[in-house]
Amino acid sequence: MDKVQRLRDVSDSDVAAWHEVVAASVAHDLPGEPAPTLDHVRGQLTTPGLRSRHLMWVATAEGAVTGVARLRLFEGPGRSHLGEFTLQVHPEHRRRGVGTDLLRTVARAARDEKRRSLVVEASSQTSGTAFLEASGFTCALSLSLLLLSVPEARGVEEIVGTEHSGYHLTRWLGVVPDDVAEAFAAAKSAMGDMPTGKLDYGTTTWDADRVRDMAEVVEKRGDTLLTVATLHGDTIAGFTELVIPVGDGTRAIQYDTAVVPAHRGQGLGLWVKAAMLEWLRAEWPAVLEIETDNAEDNAHMLAVNERLGFRPLRQTRQYQCDPRMIH
Ligand SMILES: CC(C)(COP(=O)(O)OP(=O)(O)OC[C@H]1O[C@@H](n2cnc3c(N)ncnc32)[C@H](O)[C@@H]1OP(=O)(O)O)[C@@H](O)C(=O)NCCC(=O)NCCS
Repeated sequence: MDKVQRLRDVSDSDVAAWHEVVAASVAHDLPGEPAPTLDHVRGQLTTPGLRSRHLMWVATAEGAVTGVARLRLFEGPGRSHLGEFTLQVHPEHRRRGVGTDLLRTVARAARDEKRRSLVVEASSQTSGTAFLEASGFTCALSLSLLLLSVPEARGVEEIVGTEHSGYHLTRWLGVVPDDVAEAFAAAKSAMGDMPTGKLDYGTTTWDADRVRDMAEVVEKRGDTLLTVATLHGDTIAGFTELVIPVGDGTRAIQYDTAVVPAHRGQGLGLWVKAAMLEWLRAEWPAVLEIETDNAEDNAHMLAVNERLGFRPLRQTRQYQCDPRMIH
């Protein structure tokens, strides 16, 4: 019988054992997909996400780690009802109830923290979706995961060179400069109407401190955050954020992209994303791919991504469940 233990102080050997489970899972479930690097896993385990705490557990048998789970507990108004988790069992130890034991532990902790909603992501048609459905979770949102080959992206120079009267491009590395911090926080709030299906994900209110804190979390994990925005007077009309993970930085991850409602319909989303590609090609030539996910009903964002040459990689699903239903 495997033992589930809380992980409190994360040592190098904990990071290595955790990484081994995650890397073996990715190789087994998503062949051909790059596994997260050791440094990336270290960043995740040692630095909780923005405005949240996290709790971690490992399942062990005869001294070897057989499964891992991490629960993110959001704090503050808007998301204090929510817990988000990841859970992986080493492929050699599956179908013995390790996943169920870890899930029960996560659910118990979420109940103790008075959470009403547990959210988790799984790739479609994998053991993850079968396990979650068997455990009482329902699918709240379907997402398309897309991949772009940076060298093969289409029409970048032409799109960047298109005139948008009254608008100009700006960009920054890491933390937002003070003179645009308030404007950027207002633009971040424009993500609020992004389609989230039936997901009980709550709301986030952005202010200048929160956008700085978010960039600091990325930096502390060792990752690199790039932002391109378009300004209209003192207003940020649209922006796009990208993160280059520490370690093998060949695949960057798309973070938020948004155009403020009053400025939509003019191709500004495409403009900022193309400008990001131009910047990457010039200064981060090692980045060969960009991964992004889109809600399947987010037609505008999908159209922008297809125009640049993003191709569907696979489907993922966001599942949710009330932790009081898991025993
Ligand atoms: C999903 C995962 C955590 C399940 O771990 P596990 O230890 O094998 O799970 P359990 O043994 O507790 O399985 C419980 C039940 O889930 C269902 N289940 C689990 N894996 C399944 C599979 N591959 N196919 C069909 N049903 C499955 C079954 O109903 C199973 O009960 P049974 O074995 O009595 O039939 C593991 O396969 C994994 O790490 N997958 C990759 C990571 C992932 O997708 N995580 C996201 C979802 S949490």
